[in-house]
Amino acid sequence: MSDLTVDQIKKMREEYLLPSTMTYFEKPLNIVRGQMQYVYDDTGRKYLDGFSAVVTISVGHCHPEIVPKIQRQVAELQHMTTLYYHPTIVKYAKKMAEMAGGDRPGKPANLRVSFFTNSGCEANELAAMLAKNHTKQQEFIALRHSFHGRTLMAMTLTGQSSWRHSMPYVFGVTHAPAAYCYRCPLKLKYPSCGVACASQVEDIIKYNTSGHIAGFFGEPIAGFGGVIHPPKEYFPIVHSIVKKHGGVYISDEVQTGFGRTGKHFFGISHWGVKPDIVTMAKGIGNGLPLGGILTTRAIADSMRGKVHFNTYGGNPVSMAGGLAVLDVIERHRMIENADTVGSFLKARLSKLMNRHPLIGDVRGLGLMLGVELVKDRKTKEVAPKETLRLMELCKDRGLLIGKGGMAGNVVRIKPPMCINRKDADFIADVLDESLGALEKETRVKKPRARARRR
Ligand SMILES: Cc1ncc(COP(=O)(O)O)c(C=O)c1O
Repeated sequence: MSDLTVDQIKKMREEYLLPSTMTYFEKPLNIVRGQMQYVYDDTGRKYLDGFSAVVTISVGHCHPEIVPKIQRQVAELQHMTTLYYHPTIVKYAKKMAEMAGGDRPGKPANLRVSFFTNSGCEANELAAMLAKNHTKQQEFIALRHSFHGRTLMAMTLTGQSSWRHSMPYVFGVTHAPAAYCYRCPLKLKYPSCGVACASQVEDIIKYNTSGHIAGFFGEPIAGFGGVIHPPKEYFPIVHSIVKKHGGVYISDEVQTGFGRTGKHFFGISHWGVKPDIVTMAKGIGNGLPLGGILTTRAIADSMRGKVHFNTYGGNPVSMAGGLAVLDVIERHRMIENADTVGSFLKARLSKLMNRHPLIGDVRGLGLMLGVELVKDRKTKEVAPKETLRLMELCKDRGLLIGKGGMAGNVVRIKPPMCINRKDADFIADVLDESLGALEKETRVKKPRARARRR
């Protein structure tokens, strides 16, 4: 139900909201209801949410095992400061340490201590502060194509001009090339490249910093950057360079966190790297404003004697919701589902390359998938207008998808982890049909040769 029409909302947004608020689609959607993998607009039309409200709904909209727990907490105690005790915050921190941290195989070792925020950028700000406190250094390495949020430090860490404003950034952040193999920044080819982009991190530390760093920030898979992930050697090499120079390794798991990439709780575990701090938000709250960090006891101890406070961080409602999300992930084996359904969907998307010349690359892990659109596979000329049009055509067929990448030419498919194979088929079928319609519109020739497979 909506008591305002799309046109009324449009007018009111123009009058009352900052004009930097963006929308998708020629006629923006007025989404008024959500149920697991589906959302409904004000006319009652159903859509499969293939973008999880920007990778935020991890286990399903209004999940029936989560909502009652949040409602119970709201009715009992909506807010209490961490100046007083409340049981839920410690229960949540303990459960997270057990599920995400610990020394068990595949788990990032020793990540046991949490602090909760409302958002990912606050988590990244805190991680930077922890790294500075711990190392007594000031400088950071981040990656090109990265996104870390909109506060000043987070924006400074972000490696995309479209997400930066011209302003005095925080001192001491240098960006290293990302391992974007489809468009190698060094114009090399994997594996003969020897993963040269990873060693560039060492050169940058040598030439652009004092030689000592506080830390390194990296997303295991760059989300807004266009679902960019490196070859398996990249992050282990970077990790060893960061450690050699005394830095703290920070894995920004705001999009990858809590199982979205399949197999592992955190995305970084795919690369066998044990980070010193992970930052989290989005999916961990499944729609509640919940972020945080998880770190080692040694790094946490650098905060002894210092006050850090976040009014709503650790709020009982967010904690009850977060705890319920962890329960659902565990009980419904969501991580395995992200892996199996994600692999199935990726295989189907890869097959679409044989039929649709617009697809230049299909990549990603689990349910964090990207399809890069190009006007020509040889020149790899980016196709941002076609990407926007494809999103529109998919929406008309009942599927919501997102976009990313420096040129906005990467379709981002990141549905809630509760989807099944039927949903994956639906996503692939709608993309197939919509790409066909788009190609008719743009009269792109079909490829003669069979497309490359990854
Ligand atoms: C990887 C990553 N880090 C940090 C952030 C910032 O999170 P928030 O918008 O909750 O501040 C985002 C947001 O999209 C993100 O994708």
